[in-house]
Amino acid sequence: MNIFVQMWRSIFRTGFSDSPVHRVFRVMGNFIFHLHPARVSKEGIKITHTFCLGGLSAFFFVVTAITGGVLMIYYTPDVDKAYANMLDLENVVPFGMFMRNLHRYAAHAMVIVVPLHMLRVFLTSSYKSPREFNWVIGVGLLLMTFLLSFTGYLLPWDQLSYWAVTVGTTMAENTPILGAKGPFSVLGPETDVRFLTLGGTSIDQPTLIRFYFAHCIGLPGALVGLMALHFWRVRKAGGISRPL
Ligand code: HEM
Repeated sequence: MNIFVQMWRSIFRTGFSDSPVHRVFRVMGNFIFHLHPARVSKEGIKITHTFCLGGLSAFFFVVTAITGGVLMIYYTPDVDKAYANMLDLENVVPFGMFMRNLHRYAAHAMVIVVPLHMLRVFLTSSYKSPREFNWVIGVGLLLMTFLLSFTGYLLPWDQLSYWAVTVGTTMAENTPILGAKGPFSVLGPETDVRFLTLGGTSIDQPTLIRFYFAHCIGLPGALVGLMALHFWRVRKAGGISRPL
């Protein structure tokens, strides 16, 4: 057999005939199709059942991850450089402003689409057995989505960033038990959740580096892990639920 044909066939399984059992083999042999179980119900994959909101959430995440990777090339998490990097991205770097906008709008889209997907799952009762644990994973995904937006907000290091994070971390300071000023507080101002978030008692270099790590590595990594678990659970539950 020609070496190229052999190479091609080792990657792409082809040559199945059109019988029910071969259709199953075709699904099982393809990475993308494999995300779905071998058999899916016709009603379950109707666009009006899911409105593709889960798929759109994943799509917007991929767009933010790719554009974020490009932005990382031009950004330094240093309080003396971060804002200047932003101005350079807007005025000097070719397509810099386009990349920033694409990143921002895809992130906004995620914040809109993920809760809509959650609402769809709720309205179609798809959180019920055997999908209860996937709902719990979904709550984790929602939290990660919001935290990604919050941590990304500080990175431009402008007035908007500074005051938004001041508001957010002051709220943290007032949370019950974990915040130094919250009801039933057990921690002091130098050990509470605000201190942990800021890396000190004010917004400064340690805050920027913490937020940068969380935004670019920690949270996207956790989101990818949870997404893999989420898709795997959808598959193990026998695919997308059927309409009631
Ligand atoms: C980054 C966020 C998320 C992504 C990328 C995502 C992705 C997906 C995808 C692709 C599906 C297949 C069906 C569909 O497209 O609707 C799905 C199903 C599901 N999702 Fe999500 N999801 C996310 C967040 C959430 C949240 C916040 C919840 C709820 C708290 C949730 C709960 C579920 C459940 C229970 C199913 C199974 C639904 C069914 O079988 O009909 N997901 N998700």
